[in-house]
Amino acid sequence: MSDKRSSAEQRMAALREEIEDHNHRYYVLDDPQVPDAEYDRLFRELQVLEREYPELVAASSPTQRVGAAADTSFAEVVHRIPMLSLDNAFNEDELRDFDRRVRERLATEEPVCYVCEPKLDGLAVSLHYEAGVLVRAATRGDGFAGEDITANIRTIRSVPLTLRGAQVPAMVEVRGEVYMPKAGFEGLNKTLAERGEKTFVNPRNAAAGSLRQKKSTVTAKRPLEMCAYSVAVEDESVLPNTHAGCLEQVHSWGFRINPEMRLAHGVEECWQAYEALLNKRAELPYEIDGIVFKVNDLGQQRRLGFVSRAPRWAVAQKFPAEEMLTIVEDVEFQVGRTGAVTPVARLQPVFVGGVTVSNATLHNMDEIERLGLKIGDTVFIRRAGDVIPQVVKVVDSKRPADAREVVRPAHCPACGSDIVQIEGEVVARCSGGLFCPAQRKEAIRHYASRKALDIEGLGDKWIDILVEQNLVKTVADLYRLTAADLMKLERMGEKSAANLVAAIAASAHPQLWRFIYALGIREVGEATAKSLARHFGTLEALMAADEEALQQVADVGPIVAGHIQSFFQQPHNQETLNDLKACGVVWQTETVTEQASALAGQTWVLTGTLQSMTRDEAKARLESLGAKVAGSVSKKTACVVAGEAAGSKLTRAESLGVPVLNEQGLTELLHQHGVTE
Ligand code: IVH
Repeated sequence: MSDKRSSAEQRMAALREEIEDHNHRYYVLDDPQVPDAEYDRLFRELQVLEREYPELVAASSPTQRVGAAADTSFAEVVHRIPMLSLDNAFNEDELRDFDRRVRERLATEEPVCYVCEPKLDGLAVSLHYEAGVLVRAATRGDGFAGEDITANIRTIRSVPLTLRGAQVPAMVEVRGEVYMPKAGFEGLNKTLAERGEKTFVNPRNAAAGSLRQKKSTVTAKRPLEMCAYSVAVEDESVLPNTHAGCLEQVHSWGFRINPEMRLAHGVEECWQAYEALLNKRAELPYEIDGIVFKVNDLGQQRRLGFVSRAPRWAVAQKFPAEEMLTIVEDVEFQVGRTGAVTPVARLQPVFVGGVTVSNATLHNMDEIERLGLKIGDTVFIRRAGDVIPQVVKVVDSKRPADAREVVRPAHCPACGSDIVQIEGEVVARCSGGLFCPAQRKEAIRHYASRKALDIEGLGDKWIDILVEQNLVKTVADLYRLTAADLMKLERMGEKSAANLVAAIAASAHPQLWRFIYALGIREVGEATAKSLARHFGTLEALMAADEEALQQVADVGPIVAGHIQSFFQQPHNQETLNDLKACGVVWQTETVTEQASALAGQTWVLTGTLQSMTRDEAKARLESLGAKVAGSVSKKTACVVAGEAAGSKLTRAESLGVPVLNEQGLTELLHQHGVTE
C-alpha cells in the first residue's frame, strides 16, 4: 500500500514537472514539443492521481492554476519598492533631450547603451516568489499600494507557478505587463457581442476587466499573457550588472520576455529602433503604445536615480494614438451591391492611428442599439493598423441635450423600395434589386474592379454619372456604349471616351474565375470564384450544378451553394448573362486538371520576402494547385511558407505546430507538381 503510494507520489512529481515543461515551451518559448492530445493525456493522468491522493496535491501543480487558492481578494498590498511610472517623449527632440540629460549626469560624451523594449499596452503587475514559489501577485495601484490578485494571476499560463532552474534566490520580485493579444481580444469581443453582452473598447481594457474578476474561473477563460520587464532581489550580487542580462536571467526562470527587445548604442540607434518598431506595430500579435528606452548598465542606472515618480534612466517614446474622441455629426445609410443597408457615422474629422478619419462604419442597426448611439454623441473612435475605423464606445456623460435618435429607415435611401430584414439576420436589405440605382452602381463598380474584369478608367465618378443618366442599367449596357454617347457627358473628352470604350472592349474575354467573381454573387470572393472555375470548367456547368454538386467544391457550404443557385435562378441575372453574350462577351473555359487538386482543401499562408518570385506569383502558383491562400495563421493552416525576415506569422505557425516551408521547399513542391510559372 505505502509502496503504491510512494510510487504514485513519484509519478505525480514527474508529471507536474513534465506538464510544466510543456507549458513553458508552449506559453513562454512558443515552441511546443508535443501535440495537444499528448499534453491532455498527461494532464488527465495527473488529475486522476490527484483525485486518488488528495493529500499529495501540490499548490504549484498545473492542475491547481484555476480556483485552487481562494478567489482573488483584492486586499491591499503595499509594494516593498514603489512601482514607478515612466516619463514620456512625444517626438525626436524630446528623446534627444532625454539622452543629453543622461549623458550630462553621467558626465560622458560616449554614446550610452540603451535597451529598447516595446511598451506593451496592458497592466503592470508585481509577482513575489519565495523559495521559488509564487506567493503573491499585485496590481500597481497608485504605485505605493496595489491589490492582491494572486488567484487570478495564477490562471495565466505564461506565469510560472514555480521558478525554473536549480538555484533561485530566496526572494524574487518580477514585474511585467499582463496583456491580451489582439486575436484573443477580437475573439472575446465577438463572443460577448453574440451573447448581447457589453464588449471591451480595446485589449488593455479587456485585460484590466479580466484581472478585476472576482471569480478566477472567469479570468481563466480570458486569453491573458504576461511579459516580464524588470526584476528585484534582496541580494543584488546574484544578478548580472546589466538590464538586458537581468531579463535573460528572468527568462531562464521561466518568464516570457519580449522577443522584439534590442540594444541601441546611442540616441541615433534608439531613433532607428523607434522607427523600426513603429513600422512593425500593425503586424505584432499584441498592442503597443510606444517604445521604452532604458539605460542598460545598472551602475549607471543607480547613479542616475529617480525624480519623484519616474526613473531618470528610462523614457517611453509614444506612438500615435489609436483611439480618439470625436463627435458623430450624422448617421447616413449606404446601400451595398447586395442591397445590404449599412449605417455610417459622419464624424467631426479626427487624427487617429496616423490618419484623419471622418467616417466610421456602424455595421448594422443592432450595433447602434448595442452602443446606445445618438446623433450628437461624443464617441471613442478606434483605428488600429489598416483596420476600418470603428465607433467603440459612446461617452454618455458628454451627450448634448439635443442629441437625436438614429431612425431605422423603412425605405431605401437610393430608390425608395422597402427595406426588409430576414428573421434571424442582422443585415437589413433594400428589396429593390437592380431597380435600385445604388445596388446597380455597386454591381457595376464590382464588375469593373481590379480583381474582377479590371476595366481601366471606369472609376466611381463615371459609374455614378452613367447610372444616373440612365445610360447603363446593367453591366451588359457597358458594351453598347459608344464614344459618341460618352462624349455627350460633361468633362468627357474625345480621347478619354475612346480610351474608355477600348478598355471596356478589352474586357470582353475574361478568364472564367474573374467573370464568376465579377458577377458579385453573395459570399463568392476571389478564392471561391477560383475554386468554382477550376471545378466546373465552364459557366454553363456551374449554372447547371445542383446544391450537392456545388458543395463538392472546397469552401462551398450550404449557404454559399444557396446564394449561387438563387443568383442563377433570378430572371434578371439570366437576362443579363444572355445580354452579355449577345454583346460579344466570351468567358474562357478552364481546364479541369488533376494538378489543380494536389493541394485542394488546404489553406496556406505566405510570410516574409521571397527571392525567386513575388508574393502574388507564389499565391497564384499555390492556387493553381487548389490551395487557398489566407492572410493569417490558425490551427487549420496546412502550411506556412516563410521567406526572408518572416515575422509574427512564422512565430505563430511554430507555436501552433503548423508545418513551415522555406523558399527552396516551396520551389521543390511546385516543381514536383509541374508548376513552373
Ligand atoms: S518599465 C521604472 N517597461 O508602462 C520603470 N514599463 O508608464 C517602470 N509598460 O506602468 C516601468 N511596457 O505598465 C516598463 N517594457 C516596459 C513596459 C512598461 C509597458 C507600462 C507599465 C508601466 C507604464 C509606465
